[in-house]
Amino acid sequence: MNKFFSNRWMAVAAACCALFSCKAPQQPKDLIQDNIDNAVAQFTLQTDIIEKSGKILNPRTLENGEILYVPIDDWCSGFFPGCMWYTYELTKDQKWEKLAMKYTEDLDSVKYLKWHHDVGFMIGDSYLNGLRIDNRKEYIPVIIEAAKSLSTRFRPGAGVIQSWNVDRGWQSKRGWTCPVIIDNMMNLELLFEATRLSGDSTFHKIAVSHANVTLKNHFRPDNSCYHVVDYNPETGEALHHHTAQGYAHESVWARGQAWAIYGYTVCYRYTHDKRYLDQAENIYNFIFNDPRLPEDLIPYWDYDAPEIPNEPRDASSAACTASALYEMETYAPGKGYKETADKILENLSSPAYRAKVGENGNFLLMHSVGSIPHGHEIDVPLNYADYYFLEGLIRKRNFEKGEPILKEAHLQ
Ligand code: GLY
Repeated sequence: MNKFFSNRWMAVAAACCALFSCKAPQQPKDLIQDNIDNAVAQFTLQTDIIEKSGKILNPRTLENGEILYVPIDDWCSGFFPGCMWYTYELTKDQKWEKLAMKYTEDLDSVKYLKWHHDVGFMIGDSYLNGLRIDNRKEYIPVIIEAAKSLSTRFRPGAGVIQSWNVDRGWQSKRGWTCPVIIDNMMNLELLFEATRLSGDSTFHKIAVSHANVTLKNHFRPDNSCYHVVDYNPETGEALHHHTAQGYAHESVWARGQAWAIYGYTVCYRYTHDKRYLDQAENIYNFIFNDPRLPEDLIPYWDYDAPEIPNEPRDASSAACTASALYEMETYAPGKGYKETADKILENLSSPAYRAKVGENGNFLLMHSVGSIPHGHEIDVPLNYADYYFLEGLIRKRNFEKGEPILKEAHLQ
């Protein structure tokens, strides 16, 4: 058909459409913009509740249908301020900058926290994001102080940072001496950054030692990882390979795999040691070749959970993994990491996982799991699922614009 006839046909088709008022098929809304609009709507509701209370509240999850707010020493206290920074980054609306600063600065005294290892999550998601996204140089001393606090948990004889104390609580009943959980890999970013910001190499060396010992002891031959490795802090002997939040000691706890792939990707970012990127790739190959991973790539809370497919999913693991994959794509392009991450974000954005505005306690994502063995946070929203979901969206947007996926904080 020549151009003239083709144009004539199109004109006739358009006229018929007008005559019978047929509508052009609706263009699907851009995934990133759609999620920005959704996050703004949900977080407006969430922060209106907080602001009206006259207090600074820190929402973590839903418990018995009510929003659960946590104190600042809770391991999850950095994620909600982090969500505010990411909403600011996505919108550049100063409303979110002000809220991010307010909720971040409420965590100031966390820099002195020494009784557990999660200060890396707490200060990293809040203050470090404030420095990266908003150039808040006044946050640098907080980041360095927090790294000093985390470093007090380093056990030189074993070369690891002790995750949990064993003198009280349920951890005291497990027979552990120096338990290290795979989650601890997520705290190393704070140490690497503290060295970059202060010039003191101690923090970097501790992070590298921890990553190396974890690489040696935390992984099975198939590259899935244990949750807990308990050490003799003097000799470094690995005494127990256990779980705390997974189904069984030898099972594959989904979030542990997410912390591992993200953690080793971050280690590669700061060291360029290929062993870390190789390990992230090994973990990727384990996760995405495992037949127990559902087709939508949102894992069950544990790959060995006994009632699969009638077991809760864990959206938080999927979101964290997706975010790591965008970074991996920049180091090892062309291996499908971005395509996998895109698929995860698309699925998390669907009504199967993303809540309607005004529902789900105004959190973004449904269907995460905190700890089934402890009987809490089963099939609920979690602030860290939202945090890594937004982080993944930022990385996707930056990648597709040809920009660095991650902003580096300027030192001066
Ligand atoms: N860091 C604790 C958890 O992943 O549930």
